[in-house]
Amino acid sequence: PQPKSGTAPGGGVRDGTRAAIAAAHLRTDRWWLAPAATAAGLLAFVVYSTWRAFANADYYQAPYVSPFYSPCLADNCEPMRSGPNWEIFGSWWGLSPALLILIFPLGFRLTCYYYRKAYYRGFWASPPACAVAEPHKKYSGETRFPLVLQNIHRYFFYAAVPVAGILTYDTVLTFRDEHYEWGHMGLGTLVFLLNTVLIWAYTLSCHSCRHIVGGKLKHFSKHPVRYRMWQWVGKLNARHMLLAWASLVSVALADFYVYLIASGAFDDPRLF
Ligand code: FES
Repeated sequence: PQPKSGTAPGGGVRDGTRAAIAAAHLRTDRWWLAPAATAAGLLAFVVYSTWRAFANADYYQAPYVSPFYSPCLADNCEPMRSGPNWEIFGSWWGLSPALLILIFPLGFRLTCYYYRKAYYRGFWASPPACAVAEPHKKYSGETRFPLVLQNIHRYFFYAAVPVAGILTYDTVLTFRDEHYEWGHMGLGTLVFLLNTVLIWAYTLSCHSCRHIVGGKLKHFSKHPVRYRMWQWVGKLNARHMLLAWASLVSVALADFYVYLIASGAFDDPRLF
């Protein structure tokens, strides 16, 4: 009988049933480039978002509120007339209000099927790349704690939908000027619009969304509406990696734009 993978002498891909090839792998291309670039990109976002989330400043300038700080759930939020303000956390909450809301989009991305592949490869080299052997002795996949918790991704998807809805609401509110008069637009409105479109595209391209929309059906012919929606989601899903990166950049860009105008470094050019 075949030894169980990960339990044979040597473990993993080096167990006794494999061909005895001395080379660690046979790839001659620069296979390490993609995981290295992925790790660098993710690290840059982690550093930037940690700074902004803990800064607790420069996240609001009428009519813009940073996507990192919306909705505002604490009593210590800047007085804002943009975005939803629900003071669920009273004056006892002394930390940045961004920390209360960011756990949802963060959890959504951390458990995302694409990001899992990206950071398993980029940070843990598990595996480093296609056809490059796992350096760890054992491989238990996502069957044990804590990685088994990745299965809650679907619930983070449920949380990500209202978050995307709130960002849409915030974008609608940017069609006002700094005196809250409707019918105006600034450069920031375009930045927010782009971010909202990309956030929705990323959220709807989620593998869990695809399963919720079209999964567990025996006959598509009996569910034409779900079939059509499943086809739409499938088209987005095929670009999930691209949308994951595009929306990551756009959300940081939208936050940075608010930072620039709230800190006085830049004036939002009004388009009309
Ligand atoms: Fe990536 Fe759901 S699989 S967001």
